[in-house]
Amino acid sequence: MSKVLIATEKPFSKVAVDGIKAVTDAAGYELSLLEKYTEKSQLLEAVADADALIIRSDKVDAEVFDAAKQLKIVVRAGAGYDNIDLASATAHNVVAMNTPGQNANSVAELVFGLLVFGVRNFFNGTSGTELKGKTLGILAFGNVGRNVARVAKGFDMNVKAYDAFCPADVIEAAGVTAAKSQDELFETCDIVSLHIPATPETKQSINAALMGKMKKGGILVNTARKEVINEPELLQLLQERTDLKYLTDIKPEMDAEYAQALEGRYFATPKKMGAQTAEANVNAGIAAANQIVDFLEKGITKFQVNK
Ligand code: 3PG
Repeated sequence: MSKVLIATEKPFSKVAVDGIKAVTDAAGYELSLLEKYTEKSQLLEAVADADALIIRSDKVDAEVFDAAKQLKIVVRAGAGYDNIDLASATAHNVVAMNTPGQNANSVAELVFGLLVFGVRNFFNGTSGTELKGKTLGILAFGNVGRNVARVAKGFDMNVKAYDAFCPADVIEAAGVTAAKSQDELFETCDIVSLHIPATPETKQSINAALMGKMKKGGILVNTARKEVINEPELLQLLQERTDLKYLTDIKPEMDAEYAQALEGRYFATPKKMGAQTAEANVNAGIAAANQIVDFLEKGITKFQVNK
């Protein structure tokens, strides 16, 4: 009997775990659950006899793969898989997958939660501004970026996007103005929303030179990854440009410094909340479980990311 482990430091909703269990039960698999673990040793112990592993932002590195002697597949229930050591997965003959798009709406909705909070001055009682009529720049037009564009239209915003890997005509076909470059997006938009993955190319790419191009009163919103931000540079810029705001769902390493220096212009969620809805948990969790069954039973590798 195949054993599936859900290892989530930040747990799924109960309804998602029940949904995953229904899938694994139907396949005749055994499901176990490791939630809110605080020590890596707990994960190392729990994976020892797992054939399949479902994770979220949980780090799966060589040590975890070494400990997981039976492991055949790890599925990141979500989009970004920068938390999995893909080379090590391949070296251990483990298939790694993600579940693209499954939590995209949830993340997109949070972008607007952060934005309304930001433009209304963190609900401090003073007069703020509206999103209507403002220009929103979307950096990377993947599943989340496309959902952000859809919701932005409901706010009557002008929407622009830039994606180094998505042709302009695809962006335009979605009713969004295609910017020619990242620089143009920052120069011409009132708000820029980040949806780039953390890769060697994007790490620390959001720096002072780029954000410094923003118009007066600009807002940067980050529901992507903290690694894409050049934290020291951005902090210095934000101290100089007292008209700018930074709203993030991923607390920077320098959170304390940001909070102290940028009162009223900086907000970070206490824990990454973008995909933390029952719906996103159900979508991504059940997709992960189905992908595991499809792989173990039929060898389907459609969403494999370590090819
Ligand atoms: C993702 O990459 O899918 C999101 O960042 C969600 O991450 P989470 O599962 O840790 O909430």
